[in-house]
Amino acid sequence: MLFFLDTANPDQIRTAAAWGVLDGVTTNPTLMAREGREPKALVQEIARWVSGPISVETTSLDAEGMVREAREFVGWAPNVVVKVPMTPEGLRAVTALREEGIRTNVTLVFSPVQALLAAKAGAYFVSPFVGRLDDVGHVGMDVVRQAVEILRGYGYPTKVLAASLRHPLHVLEAARAGADIATMPFGTLEQLFRHPLTDLGLERFLEDWRKLQAELLARSSAPAGS
Ligand code: E4P
Repeated sequence: MLFFLDTANPDQIRTAAAWGVLDGVTTNPTLMAREGREPKALVQEIARWVSGPISVETTSLDAEGMVREAREFVGWAPNVVVKVPMTPEGLRAVTALREEGIRTNVTLVFSPVQALLAAKAGAYFVSPFVGRLDDVGHVGMDVVRQAVEILRGYGYPTKVLAASLRHPLHVLEAARAGADIATMPFGTLEQLFRHPLTDLGLERFLEDWRKLQAELLARSSAPAGS
């Protein structure tokens, strides 16, 4: 399973890349706005830390505008994937961009049939949003599960990118559902490391090691024959 960070923050991306577990990045207009920087320079900085796919989202509502933006974005860095919304115009853009060899990520997907439509149009990634469905009382992970089942069943090459993940249980369930990719906020990636028994175990090992060192020191400084 690939892990992407859902952020536009270069410090977080650099940190996760150094951990050796970062395969890509997803951004959206909200995440970009949070950084308050010029998008091109920001994406180019992100591309210094991650060689895997970086999703950059279009904001046009018509296919022509999306295609125009997409052509500009892919000039920013070779690993840019263009995010387009799950609308008829978005899929028209996916079709045109596929013919140009530009990879797309169809975003704002909330049902398995939307995922099927995106795959049929030739999307590279399809992004079902789990947390936002949970927020309104639906089981978001069901969409991931069914999208994986349908796309694999028919042999579509489109990869299922589980998005809007908010906590470690979402990541676990996305992995069990067979999602190709999990994109998550930095805080969730950090949480994946944590287990109280790891901390406790480490503390005990270090304590025992310190005791051994103290014992050896005491022995070596004791007068011979004592
Ligand atoms: C996906 O690509 C989106 O950027 C993201 O996962 C949305 O997450 P949110 O619902 O927590 O904003």
